[in-house]
Amino acid sequence: MKIELRNITKRFGNVLANDDVSVTVEAGTIHGILGENGAGKSTLVKIISGFIGRDRGTIILDEKPGEIKTPAAAIRAGIGMLHQDPLDFPTLSVLDNFMIGREGGKDKTSSIVLPKKLATKELKYLASDFNFSLDVNEILGNLTVGERQQLEILRLLSLGVNTLIFDEPTTGISASQKDALFAAMRKLADSGKSLIFVSHKLEDVAVLCDRVTVMRQGKVVGEAEIPCPENRLVEMMFGRELASPNKPKTATAEVALQLHNIILKTDRLTIEIEKLTIQSGEVIGLAGLEGSGQRLLLLMCAGLLPATSGNLIINGQDMTNQTYQNYLKAGVGFLPADRLKEGLVNGLTIQDHVALRQSIGRRSFVNWKETLTVTKDKISLFNIRGKADSKVERLSGGNQQRTQLALLPIPLNLLLMEHPTRGLDIESAIWVWQQLIARCQTGTTILFTSSDLDEIVQYSDRILVFSGGNVSAPIDTKELTVNKLGQMIGGKFEDGGLGTGD
Ligand SMILES: Nc1ncnc2c1ncn2[C@@H]1O[C@H](COP(=O)(O)OP(=O)(O)OP(=O)(O)O)[C@@H](O)[C@H]1O
Ligand SMILES: [Mg+2]
Repeated sequence: MKIELRNITKRFGNVLANDDVSVTVEAGTIHGILGENGAGKSTLVKIISGFIGRDRGTIILDEKPGEIKTPAAAIRAGIGMLHQDPLDFPTLSVLDNFMIGREGGKDKTSSIVLPKKLATKELKYLASDFNFSLDVNEILGNLTVGERQQLEILRLLSLGVNTLIFDEPTTGISASQKDALFAAMRKLADSGKSLIFVSHKLEDVAVLCDRVTVMRQGKVVGEAEIPCPENRLVEMMFGRELASPNKPKTATAEVALQLHNIILKTDRLTIEIEKLTIQSGEVIGLAGLEGSGQRLLLLMCAGLLPATSGNLIINGQDMTNQTYQNYLKAGVGFLPADRLKEGLVNGLTIQDHVALRQSIGRRSFVNWKETLTVTKDKISLFNIRGKADSKVERLSGGNQQRTQLALLPIPLNLLLMEHPTRGLDIESAIWVWQQLIARCQTGTTILFTSSDLDEIVQYSDRILVFSGGNVSAPIDTKELTVNKLGQMIGGKFEDGGLGTGD
């Protein structure tokens, strides 16, 4: 289906999120929408898929005016969307989630078993067609982000859509899931479907899209056929070229973190680390497929997951079995991946979050006047597009991430982060790392995970690779390339790794 958007305008209060946006997506192509954080990408695709209304503008589908007022109407018109933050039901099974949105059978007396049987068959057929492996009876909450996304694609296809919109689908999925996703997208386009791919990652747009529209501050600032030189796209996105900082040496001779004979166990995974010493000021990248134990290590160092055995020493202090409060007192900070479930509280404003953060360890009433000043400073320093009284769920994905970063206490001895720049555009990611490196120069030690191997290689001093239940010995980043790291993530280590586990 050919989709033409003409003069779409949408205002939220005094933010003009979409300002006279016109884009044409041809049938059988993958059309990229590229832009910095807060550029208005999600707003635009939410309008096309019926999740929000527009103030002005028309949508034309195959030369006919399309009235899309609700998500259900969009699906009937053949348009389905995968959201930046998934909207599925974690406590239900894969199959139940697959069946959401279907019309009930007309014959009310017919048993529910038959549609379930049919749906199972259809799901299995579709999954094998796209090389997705999904267990139909698994509870959705146990799936990785990538698997949930695969399920959502299949669900929308089974509802008969011929246009699929993906809002930043590559954040939080593994490299192999990304390959499977891109292959599926290409296959869908080749079969005549229209795809819209929202991203701020140039390299993804470059390998996947046929054409790209670039947005900045609510407006379309350019369009290009792919291939297109990367620096031209960067200039369109930001109005200038960008230079990445080089990571200076920040590690000192002091020891920040020591692990002895650590065993970390969940019902799925056992991680063993016999001995690990990390210097103060050092940046350690934790590389590996999602769910390979990186998170367990971070949670343990944050005081949020007790080790089954072993000792953890932070700045000379034995922290084994200490309370979370004591970890906070020891200057340990944690930035979780799931910003709307673990990092931020839905329904609360940016100022509420600052107040919460300030109240840790204090026994007095909140001084709202002081909090407002602090909040305004943080909003301006972290360049958050939002106000002190903006509810966090109303912020764009990238601005939620900035808010999480702004809430981290200064100073910190040990900073543990999952995907610190997830959802950020390149300019913001560079800026965030400049701030993080400045923290390291004052002695903060960083351990972080990222599914972006370039980020790991660019900013880590040493890297631990997690693969198949093993943890590698720390590898000096100078000895690594992104390709070599990718191979290690998928394979075994030559030296047997840090633990003695199999
Ligand atoms: N429901 C809402 N209420 C108020 N403001 C909103 C709402 N949704 C979006 N905005 C504002 O509109 C602007 C555009 O947001 P949008 O989510 O479309 O950006 P984006 O390009 O998707 O950014 P990102 O890359 O960070 O996801 C932002 O300033 C955002 O704060
Ligand atoms: Mg967005």
